[in-house]
Amino acid sequence: MGNAKLEAWVAEVAALCRPDRVHWCDGSQAEHDEMIRLLVHAGTATPLDEARRPGSVLVRSHPADVARVEDRTFICSARPEDAGPTNNWADPAEMKATLRGLFDGAMAGRTMYVIPYSMGPVGSPIANIGVEVTDSPYVVANMHLMTRVGARVLDALGAEGEFVRGLHSVGMPLGPSDPDVPWPHNLEHKYITHFPDTREIWSFGSGYGGNALLGKKCHALRIASVQARDEGWLAEHMLILKLTNPEGRAHYITGAFPSACGKTNLAMLQPTLPGWKVETIGDDIAWMKLDADGRLRAINPEAGFFGVAPGTSMGSNPSAIRTLSRDVIYTNCAVTADGDAWWEGMTDETPGGMTDWLRRSHAPGGTRKAAHPNARFTVAASQCPVIAPEWEDPEGVPIDAILFGGRRGSTIPLVTEAFDWTHGTFMGATAGSETTAAAVGAVGQLRRDPMAMLPFCGYNMADYWGHWLSFEGRTQPSKLPLVFFVNWFRKGADGKFLWPGFGENSRVLRWVAERIEGSGEAVDTPIGRLPAPGALDTSGLSLRDGALDELLAVDVAGWLDEVGLIREHFARFGDRLPSPLADCVDQLEARLRAAGAPTGVA
Ligand code: OXD
Ligand code: MN
Repeated sequence: MGNAKLEAWVAEVAALCRPDRVHWCDGSQAEHDEMIRLLVHAGTATPLDEARRPGSVLVRSHPADVARVEDRTFICSARPEDAGPTNNWADPAEMKATLRGLFDGAMAGRTMYVIPYSMGPVGSPIANIGVEVTDSPYVVANMHLMTRVGARVLDALGAEGEFVRGLHSVGMPLGPSDPDVPWPHNLEHKYITHFPDTREIWSFGSGYGGNALLGKKCHALRIASVQARDEGWLAEHMLILKLTNPEGRAHYITGAFPSACGKTNLAMLQPTLPGWKVETIGDDIAWMKLDADGRLRAINPEAGFFGVAPGTSMGSNPSAIRTLSRDVIYTNCAVTADGDAWWEGMTDETPGGMTDWLRRSHAPGGTRKAAHPNARFTVAASQCPVIAPEWEDPEGVPIDAILFGGRRGSTIPLVTEAFDWTHGTFMGATAGSETTAAAVGAVGQLRRDPMAMLPFCGYNMADYWGHWLSFEGRTQPSKLPLVFFVNWFRKGADGKFLWPGFGENSRVLRWVAERIEGSGEAVDTPIGRLPAPGALDTSGLSLRDGALDELLAVDVAGWLDEVGLIREHFARFGDRLPSPLADCVDQLEARLRAAGAPTGVA
């Protein structure tokens, strides 16, 4: 028996959008192959060389539709203060009226695809069902890889089940004799809108990534963060990894880093420390719920990786490169003369004879990039050679530590442990990072990106911090994960990175594991707990003279400046700021002033 609410909603949106046809997706391989065939036929996708990249295509978007559009992303809650100062708010009724106008007839000449999907293993107590309606076969093909799609989702939904409603259109209706274009989108109107109170997403005008694959940022973060607040769990922009020590003891760690700051690399890290192993559970999103024992258990709600391609290489992330050997949708990469995908950083030498992401021939040695900086790969997570066997465990995995991080050239040490959950929440709430190409806008500017959720929190960020703080009262604090702040991007006076990063980050993970087990040594400092001298395993690592001291120092003057910036950041939230966070910044400043010495102050 069908779900009457679903059928009524699909009929309603079909009447509004007036597509030529409606197709209910079953998630089968045949359906996926058909979407790829349609994309190739339309000139959207080009098959790559079958011997080099079996089953893979390269898609090129329109140059004006290449990344998430944060300034066109709206949270339409009842009152502006429910969206808070970090979101664009719009009145839900007014926004619906505007969008109804835009969606009216928007799918003319196109097929409307209905995609029932599960975020998380179908039937998991942590999973959640959504239905995306879209007129883009590119979206369907990506959703096949990124989520679990099809009849089993409808079975799990049942006759009465609730689901998140996602309506998406590229916003380019076709008249009876209009030819289509390779990348339909709407140059004039783009709206990525969320109605948290009714669990709806309406996305118009963009076909790209997080704007269009509604299961990802729109559902699994913006809407889910509101569901999580209401139901007492956490929906976070976090990777999940399993770290196993040489004795075979495993710990599960999540990490929140802003977009394009290395979550995929960390999730698939190849430790340089002998005997240590990292396996992947997820690379972008974690949903965490308290279990019956009071521990936070996490699932990866996604089924695939939509990763940033540039910078991914056998050196930086060999497991990602191996994951990408077949059945991949590449978007906005370059193509080599022999029909393979390529991007900056993939190989030391730039091959000659390439065609760039804009279909121009590419001259190596010039300043023009061959791939767009936000070029992406979409691939099933099951293809990852280091995927953890339990990655689809419906119960999730118990989380022992949470890492927050960002791209910070100065001040922030390599790793700092929070004193307790409240201090950990403070660390997450004050995280700053230099901006990247994952969103439209200037790159390299420091912005506060609390918990890496700045573009993804579906409600007032101050209330979200209050929700985080509430976990101390929901379980025994000793059962909550330890919290750390890491910074792989610290630079020396010469502007060069002080820390090699990538596989060497296993040294930091080792210290985290030892802290979880109670064996790792730490010193208390004004900003938190830092590795005690000698506690970080640096065997076999050659760092520049003084680099380790700099990486683990407390730069008191720099931190006092940071305190000023944190106060400005908190001031935006007025009296909605939870008082424990205001106390944390006062206490931090008092400790720094009392210390007055650069390092190791107890
Ligand atoms: C992503 C992002 O696509 O954060 O994961 O932008
Ligand atoms: Mn992300």
